[in-house]
Amino acid sequence: MTNAAFISCSGEDLEQAKVLENLLDHAGLPAWVYTKPLTGSQFPTEITEAITTSSCVIVLVSPSSASSAWVGRELHFAQENGIPIVPVLVKPTPTNSALHLRIAGMSRIDATKGFAGEAFDELCRAVKAHYRRLNPIVAVMNMKGGVGKTTLSANIFGGLFKWRHKNVLLVDLDPQYNLTQLLVHQRTHLALVEQDRSVISAFEPGRPLGRESPTRELTKISTFDGAPIDPTEIAHRLEFDPDSRARFDLILGQFEIAKYTLPQNTRRVDACMAYFKRFLDLARSKYDLVVIDVSPASSHLTLAAVSAATHVLAPVRPDKYSLRGLKAMRRLMDELFALEEQPEFLAVMNDVAPDSPTDVEEDIRNDREFGASLLKTIIPHSRYFFARNTGAVQNPAERLAINARGWHSSNIQDVLRTAGDELMERVSGHAATIDRNVGDTAEVNQEI
Ligand SMILES: Nc1ncnc2c1ncn2[C@@H]1O[C@H](COP(=O)(O)OP(=O)(O)OP(=O)(O)O)[C@@H](O)[C@H]1O
Ligand SMILES: [Mg+2]
Repeated sequence: MTNAAFISCSGEDLEQAKVLENLLDHAGLPAWVYTKPLTGSQFPTEITEAITTSSCVIVLVSPSSASSAWVGRELHFAQENGIPIVPVLVKPTPTNSALHLRIAGMSRIDATKGFAGEAFDELCRAVKAHYRRLNPIVAVMNMKGGVGKTTLSANIFGGLFKWRHKNVLLVDLDPQYNLTQLLVHQRTHLALVEQDRSVISAFEPGRPLGRESPTRELTKISTFDGAPIDPTEIAHRLEFDPDSRARFDLILGQFEIAKYTLPQNTRRVDACMAYFKRFLDLARSKYDLVVIDVSPASSHLTLAAVSAATHVLAPVRPDKYSLRGLKAMRRLMDELFALEEQPEFLAVMNDVAPDSPTDVEEDIRNDREFGASLLKTIIPHSRYFFARNTGAVQNPAERLAINARGWHSSNIQDVLRTAGDELMERVSGHAATIDRNVGDTAEVNQEI
């Protein structure tokens, strides 16, 4: 579980911190505040864990927090672990305190008149910027079909689970549900859909929330504006690493999501899309990475994916239509979708054979708009990516290139590992190998 923000405050400001926690939660930014009295010199593990799993630490600046040793320790611990600090002034405070030294040079948000209006909006913007980098939502998309969206969703992000122990959630958002077919046996798929444990429940939840089952419906849409269902309740576990406790999960796809792509009751579809966005917000607080395999058609589903995504990853094949395809996608996002917040755009060359033309890659690298977006790593053409019959194996995920044991498989696995590391660095600003979880109780004796 991760938080958008840890709120550090003095006991005197605790009530205000709780109000802020509530407001942030409602804004889709899960916050954490410690409510028990603090004694002694050692941090409770709860606090160290909450700080290291938060995208930033908000410190409520007031005369009492300026003289609080605990607040100083929390900030020191956050800084030592590379967690950004967001100072929020809640009461006029003399500027000669040790706390001010610690936050010197950081821009402060003035909330001395309360958490309303501009001050709260500014705080949300600051927290969101950090939260986007902590747990990215990557939409793997390209309006062009057959470029490797499904193949790379499974293999690059599966590699981040396998080699970097990231908790990864794949979401199959294509009515063709190829990702699901690649990773799950048909009989398992049918059984899980029967229990409403599929992507439909990410739009209009059914049985797991005690509602009527919507999974077989192709014409009826049942909206729901209650709290989103816990994604781990409907996700299917593809793989689990008992040592790191990392999970590789999938929200199974289903043909019936095609109903959201058809022009019908738009108000109902909009309500489902809003629910889906909240579902993804909850998902990112539970996984290091949420990855959406998006269908190549431009529809409500595409809009839902890009409006929730922090990043878009577009696989491109080395053919002459690719650059034009990227430009069309950019226009779709900029002009047609008019998003409140644009996801960061990334691209990766895929299926490059030794005799593939090299001018396409050069054109993209030299393009002012897209040059910087293209990953350095190039995914070659490889027989390890061929879609194969998985009937004979117990777990179809074993047939992925990342798990292959055949002749030369280590070559393609090296490429996928490098691609995953490069991608992780681009989306989170951290190297993939940096693990932000600290061990047991950390003793912090540093006084401010
Ligand atoms: N690097 C590669 N080397 C060899 N084959 C590949 C490679 N990448 C993809 N393929 C193959 O190309 C085909 C299309 O790939 P994939 O299904 O991943 O594309 P997609 O973009 O998801 O397609 P769609 O638009 O239909 O969703 C598949 O058969 C896949 O096995
Ligand atoms: Mg696909």
